[in-house]
Amino acid sequence: NLPRFVKIVEVGPRDGLQNEKSTVPTHVKIKLIQRLATSGLSVVEATSFVSPKWVPQLADAKDVMEVVRNIAGVHFPVLTPNLKGFEAAAAAGAKEVAIFASASEAFSKSNINCSIKESLARYNDVACAAKKHEIPVRGYVSCVVGCPVEGSVPPSNVAYVAKELYDMGCYEVSLGDTIGVGTPGTVVPMLEAVMSVVPVEKLAVHFHDTYGQSLSNILISLQMGVNVVDSSVAGLGGCPYAKGASGNVATEDVVYMLHGLGIKTGVDLGKVMSAGEFICKHLGRQSGSKAAIALSNV
Ligand code: HMG
Ligand code: MG
Repeated sequence: NLPRFVKIVEVGPRDGLQNEKSTVPTHVKIKLIQRLATSGLSVVEATSFVSPKWVPQLADAKDVMEVVRNIAGVHFPVLTPNLKGFEAAAAAGAKEVAIFASASEAFSKSNINCSIKESLARYNDVACAAKKHEIPVRGYVSCVVGCPVEGSVPPSNVAYVAKELYDMGCYEVSLGDTIGVGTPGTVVPMLEAVMSVVPVEKLAVHFHDTYGQSLSNILISLQMGVNVVDSSVAGLGGCPYAKGASGNVATEDVVYMLHGLGIKTGVDLGKVMSAGEFICKHLGRQSGSKAAIALSNV
């Protein structure tokens, strides 16, 4: 019972590059986004309007947006942690934003320096401002199965935060296994809890591949009715406030699996691979995508 079409949300330029030790130059970020945008991806998360003291890697958000805002036919959501970020994003021409709450108190504190409750109040302000500007808002819940500090996270906590974001008007709520500890054994009960309060067609899944569980977790999510998957070109990524978190599942690996299942994505695997080669060459490292490595050797 798999979907015929899966929407892939490419998060590499944001979730990937926010975690690089050395800041990637603005022109390289722009070139990466331009390449991804020509590969058939309909959504490329471009950057974050967060505090540059917290994430210096994305301090050039405005300059990135100024160029990519003019690319037609692709959505470029940007992360906004508060009204200040929302206003800066809107002024820079962002046509879509994303808000990011945590299902664990400890991670909320370390990532955005406030409690879950305080974050939801801030995000409600962002959602109201976005509504006035007719800017669609995507929601994230992080630490949906595990937290770097608290350990396992109860599904009911995830369901609570997901419903709050949905009720604020988020058109989609992405469920993030921020540190990649989930297995189908923990993902299924979490999804069941969330699906009992948010319609499954409004959900996306966002897996980091720390323990190599992402593809199994995606497959089980698709079997449960999810049809939006977040991923990162070349498996770039992590979270600067989640120690040990590795990159997101690689877009190339997701596309390879989906196409192997006969599921359409609209994405040209070869073009995503060349975007991956471009950024890996710049970073001076091998791709985190097994499919990309294998296919470039055949
Ligand atoms: P704070 O220090 O509590 O905030 O940070 P503050 O209001 O005291 O502000 C501190 C300074 O930042 C001030 O500057 C503000 O003006 C400035 P100063 O007066 O000291 O010069 N500031 C801003 N500047 C630019 N843009 C803004 C902004 N807001 C304040 N929007 C805050 C609170 C939320 C700002 C901070 O903690 C922050 O920016 N956190 C973001 C962290 C982050 O981006 N983490 C990674 C993304 S989440 C993730 O990766 C998970 C996800 O992928 C899903 C998953 O994997 O599960 C989404
Ligand atoms: Mg993430």
